[in-house]
Amino acid sequence: MTIPSPATHYKPEQLDVYLSEAQIQERIQELAAQINATYQGCEKLMIIAVLKGSFMFVADLIRHIKVPCQIEFVRLASYGDGQTSSGTVKPVDLSLPSLSGEDVLIVEDIIDTGLTLHFFMDYLTSLHHTRSLKLAVLLDKKEARQKDVLVDFAGFTVGNQFLVGYGLDFAGYYRNLPFIGVVKD
Ligand code: IMP
Ligand code: MG
Repeated sequence: MTIPSPATHYKPEQLDVYLSEAQIQERIQELAAQINATYQGCEKLMIIAVLKGSFMFVADLIRHIKVPCQIEFVRLASYGDGQTSSGTVKPVDLSLPSLSGEDVLIVEDIIDTGLTLHFFMDYLTSLHHTRSLKLAVLLDKKEARQKDVLVDFAGFTVGNQFLVGYGLDFAGYYRNLPFIGVVKD
């Protein structure tokens, strides 16, 4: 399947809805309930969102989090402008405060090969002695996994298709859509 260049063919009607806005929002409330139950009584939860893709998901998720929390952002890149992982993870910005003794929840839009999160979790555990470290992803592309990564909270298991919208991009476009779409053949 070839996706037309979004810069010249940007048309949401070229997309099929894969997950509607309502489906996404309903599932996020369920995920938040699981997270709230897991961290009940926790003094402070440190949320680390992986940019850019997770900005919408984390913004919606965090509104339903009931435990006291702080948020940090890191930026990692692996796809470039293509539709498949480049195989190397580029740390764009990994600046973080000390996470020593903290309960840390990483929030990511999608796990695909697992290379990005494997790299990042390795990096975190080598530098910081967190009290706990868990992972929440909105989308899990299970079939594509190359590196084992334990996902603690997963929104939806998705097929091995290239998805756009709700933070996910193709060549930087489509992130603004409130739903998740798949480009029509
Ligand atoms: P991984 O390292 O292969 O697990 O890929 C993780 C990153 O690739 C995600 O954080 C996304 O930014 C990007 N990615 C993976 N699959 C898709 C997709 O279907 N659409 C858009 N971006 C994707
Ligand atoms: Mg991402």
